[in-house]
Amino acid sequence: MPVEFISLTFPNASTELKPIPNARIDPEYLERYARNLDDYGFNYTLVPYDSSYFDPWTVGATIAAKTKRLKIIIALRPNTLYPTVAARALATLDQLSSGRAVVHFIAGGSDAEQAKEGDFLTKEQRYARLEEYIRILRRAWDSPDPFDWDGTYYQFKQFTNKVRPINKTIPVSVGGSSDDAYRIGGALADIFGLWGEPLKETKQQIDKIYAAAESAGRSDRPRIWVTFRPIIAETDELAWAKAYRTLDALKANRPGSQGNTGGAPQNVGSQRLLDIAARGEVQDRALWYPTVVATNARGASTALVGSAQTIVDSILDYVDLGAELISIRGYDNLNDAIDYGRYILPPVREVLQGREAKPTA
Ligand SMILES: Cc1cc2nc3c(=O)[nH]c(=O)nc-3n(C[C@H](O)[C@H](O)[C@H](O)COP(=O)(O)O)c2cc1C
Repeated sequence: MPVEFISLTFPNASTELKPIPNARIDPEYLERYARNLDDYGFNYTLVPYDSSYFDPWTVGATIAAKTKRLKIIIALRPNTLYPTVAARALATLDQLSSGRAVVHFIAGGSDAEQAKEGDFLTKEQRYARLEEYIRILRRAWDSPDPFDWDGTYYQFKQFTNKVRPINKTIPVSVGGSSDDAYRIGGALADIFGLWGEPLKETKQQIDKIYAAAESAGRSDRPRIWVTFRPIIAETDELAWAKAYRTLDALKANRPGSQGNTGGAPQNVGSQRLLDIAARGEVQDRALWYPTVVATNARGASTALVGSAQTIVDSILDYVDLGAELISIRGYDNLNDAIDYGRYILPPVREVLQGREAKPTA
């Protein structure tokens, strides 16, 4: 399976470096950004979810209409949509896009964030609900006949689905770094999403996911997705200068008070990033953690700093660990996506094709 690249969807020109407060969707920007991803060879774009943010379904459908190859990953929290509705919404998007829909599940990492939309389950319960939810979606996509469901979180009778995915099913991704995430994602996900940790810790996480897949009796395993925020320039030296300018802007623009790191995040993924950040600024070749601290590990925040060659080599280190999906997005969103499309995606693919072409001894 070749390595594939993921970006994040940006609906307007607001960035963490130059935020535009309360910016509306800019349809032209959304289209330009998505078309650039398509043209420069990104394989996927994640449409994120937040209780205060734009609706991923309409944004995702717009991207589908404006692009040809790009796959659209809809971030979905089970509490926000009944599973039979989600099954048909995803299959509808899949048909509209000729088979380009993917779903990325978020069990919910913060009680306070979940409560904003009426979800008062514990995190353990949220993962149990997620498991039931994924099983319902797969049944809905697969079952030609009406079916009943009598689960802990969902009960319904004689649900009939007439909206089928183009390729029988839709890839299901799960993200998280808690034991429950490994267990549920390992057992059920086609793709498992991780944030940017050092090679050693990433390997440990991959081993846990694979072990969970095996104990669930699977003969296959989830494809691994890792996430970075590359800061690239012509040379390593220039990239480091750019990294410190980026850090200054992040600190200055942080919502709330400057320099205040906020409360401890509840989700394990962010806690792990902050623990690693406390061990030192740079890990491995070029994995940089001050951006994690400056944003209190809010979302994917680990940088990779260096020339294109350094970033390519760093990405290949993760490919060698078993990562098949590489998510890269920068801080100057559109320009960085174009830079990656020109200087990162082609050489990574070239190296991998060269390896495939070599006869094995
Ligand atoms: C690649 C990736 C993408 C994510 N996208 C989102 C998102 O769009 N919205 C969101 O609320 N959480 C997102 N998350 C966060 C986790 O899914 C969330 O914190 C999880 O429910 C609980 O995390 P934990 O198992 O690490 O404690 C993402 C996580 C990963 C790894």
